[in-house]
Amino acid sequence: MIRKINDQIIEVGVRAPSKPYFDNFIPLPRGTSYNSYIIKGSEKIAIIDTVEPEYADEFLCNVQECMREMGIEKIDYIISNHSEQDHSGCIPLVRERFPGSKVIVNERSKELLSELIHLKDEDMIIIKENEEISLGDKTLRFILTPWVHWPETMCTYLKEDKILFTCDFFGSHFSSDELYVKDAESVVHEAKRYYAELMMAFRVIIKVNMKKLEKIEIETIAPAHGPVYDNPKIIIDAYNQWISDDCKKEVVILYVTMHESTHIMAEYLKSKFEGKVEVKLMDLMKCDLGEMAIELVEAETILFGSPAYISGPHPVAANAAYSINVLKPKAKYIGFFGSYGWANKLEEYFIRMTDNIHAERLPSIIVKGKPREEDFRKMDEVVEKIINTM
Ligand SMILES: Cc1cc2nc3c(=O)[nH]c(=O)nc-3n(C[C@H](O)[C@H](O)[C@H](O)COP(=O)(O)O)c2cc1C
Ligand SMILES: [Fe+2]
Ligand SMILES: [Fe+2]
Repeated sequence: MIRKINDQIIEVGVRAPSKPYFDNFIPLPRGTSYNSYIIKGSEKIAIIDTVEPEYADEFLCNVQECMREMGIEKIDYIISNHSEQDHSGCIPLVRERFPGSKVIVNERSKELLSELIHLKDEDMIIIKENEEISLGDKTLRFILTPWVHWPETMCTYLKEDKILFTCDFFGSHFSSDELYVKDAESVVHEAKRYYAELMMAFRVIIKVNMKKLEKIEIETIAPAHGPVYDNPKIIIDAYNQWISDDCKKEVVILYVTMHESTHIMAEYLKSKFEGKVEVKLMDLMKCDLGEMAIELVEAETILFGSPAYISGPHPVAANAAYSINVLKPKAKYIGFFGSYGWANKLEEYFIRMTDNIHAERLPSIIVKGKPREEDFRKMDEVVEKIINTM
């Protein structure tokens, strides 16, 4: 299935509504898509990005259908906005079909594409920041936007139509046959999942890229995952909120338990915040890592609970702590609580496992077995400290 933006621009990528995980990590409740766009200029034809190789057959059928529809027989330029294989993986197949085509790259993506998909130097044309390529009546300008989320990422701006092709930047895990965003709230929620997994760790550098984009008149944002934004303001505003240093006055409590002690503590902490600040309790056995990551995008405080399990944290908690550490949320406070039987190194492990998080550490609350009166008072003190800072 191909989707027309207008007679000269057609989306030829694939939808993957039942793909279970992205990067075999984040669950995909709404699936995802891999968008690719063919632009027919009066003289030259370009394709922007390709798709994950497992969908190559469908993609090549779409390319063929589009070419029939547009009455074209060649592709001159393959624009690679991002070297990751979910977008570059089918470039060799496109080149095979259209041997005269050249891949448009920047300095960084040239190196990556030669390593990842074995492109040769003569297959590529290197462009610089703001350089333009003419397709005749259409002009493509390249805007380098490094670290969204790889070092070589860039956006392509179609000047005449004011469309910005952003690849992963502003993408969402939302598979829909509709070309444009219809249910903005759901799409932005899935864009937040996307941001949390891939972009959040690069929040500071994304700010620089956002400033760069402010100088461009953008009527449409066409990402490589999820629907096209004909009202780009909704996703630009959301990104500006997510990347800002300000947090939401929210406490996220993540925990796992084996015999209920840590659970009792988590519920108690939650009850103490209720009615005072927003609080979200997440049992790591029930929530998925995507939901956890979404919650971490804006929360000011993270409380992390685990029982001792062969000295360190429970493996499920360790997995979540490792994930939080790589996702690097902007939280201002982080604390640990948990339960043990005889001896433990919970705090030591936890601090080490979250050393990327530059949040203030709250006093740990680690109790022997079920919490006692004095443990509840310690929890009260931590809750009070958090509420007073918010
Ligand atoms: C597999 C396993 C390993 C454990 N290893 C330790 C340990 O190394 N040190 C310790 O003090 N307690 C250890 N415990 C005891 C638990 O940490 C203790 O029962 C704790 O109170 C359980 O908290 P929960 O009720 O939140 O699951 C272990 C328990 C299990 C089941
Ligand atoms: Fe990517
Ligand atoms: Fe991607």
